[in-house]
Amino acid sequence: MMVQMVVRAPAKVNLLLLVGPPRPDGYHELFSVMAPIGLCDELELDLAAQPEAASPTQSDGVRVTCAGVAAGENIVRRALGVLEVASRWRFSGSVTIRKRIPIAAGLGGGSSDAACVLAAAARLLATAGAPTLTQEMLRELALELGSDVPFFLAAGAALVRGRGEIVEPFDLPALHLCLLLPREELPTRAVYATYDETAGRETATEFAERGRVAEDAWRRVEAASRLGELGVAGVANAVAALMENDLELPAFRMVPDLAARRAALLAVGAKAALMSGSGPTVFGVFPSDEAAKAAAEKLADVGFAAVVASVPGAEALEGRSRFDGRNGP
Ligand code: C5P
Repeated sequence: MMVQMVVRAPAKVNLLLLVGPPRPDGYHELFSVMAPIGLCDELELDLAAQPEAASPTQSDGVRVTCAGVAAGENIVRRALGVLEVASRWRFSGSVTIRKRIPIAAGLGGGSSDAACVLAAAARLLATAGAPTLTQEMLRELALELGSDVPFFLAAGAALVRGRGEIVEPFDLPALHLCLLLPREELPTRAVYATYDETAGRETATEFAERGRVAEDAWRRVEAASRLGELGVAGVANAVAALMENDLELPAFRMVPDLAARRAALLAVGAKAALMSGSGPTVFGVFPSDEAAKAAAEKLADVGFAAVVASVPGAEALEGRSRFDGRNGP
């Protein structure tokens, strides 16, 4: 049994990222509003699967190519590896990744690639007659690969909690963004370490309360946008008023230039500008696609790597899921 297809793995932005105190396992409790955007990696999959008994070696059979990432370190290879162990089947063939999402940029590119391959390979196993892997099992494998991977298994925006494994679909209106892609990579682990050194201590209870207040405010935006109460400009204003990222302070300390990039977005008309995830990508929210494009042109003229990308509105993603193979914006 084989699968041959080209799939698009979207990047994400965090419109909200609240970080709680460190947990005993070293991770931090999160509360985040995450949204897939139209900036995508492209993956060409050519995979075959057979039972372990017929092919004893682990996924060396799959050739993973991705410019800029050593083959052995690719998270896509790890995704195939954990699925092989869980299913006791083996994959062969190739995965070619055409990177459009910058690496270690706070946009979740590697996590999205991994989720995309995990879902496609699981579907291949199902059609090849392997014992069924439940969605719950797939989500566990996803978390093993990284905290952002479970988000990418589902399509669409979500409220994300826990370490990243609690993913609740969330209706967002369409949003028009301009992203300033970074010149440097910022390792997530290092940003969290700086956060721990610099942030004031908050108890788990205080963090839960902060999350609850934020959730109420985002739910009001969700309800108003569902009822069509906001209008196009109102959407950008309402979302902009709630955007916040606890990792900005530590990341701005590590890359002081980020503050200037955020200011540049505000200077060309962004309703709000924020760093995504652990950075260093910063993005602005604009009232329309035209406004985002005009801003990107101005910023590109003065040397920024500015790209336009939108968050598709909830209605554009109706009924989609990674599990049925219709992923991505
Ligand atoms: O899960 P992932 O491998 O993406 O996490 C990378 C690093 O980010 C972790 O080693 C940890 O330092 C930090 N992290 C965290 N809390 C989270 C997610 C990530 O502290 N919820």
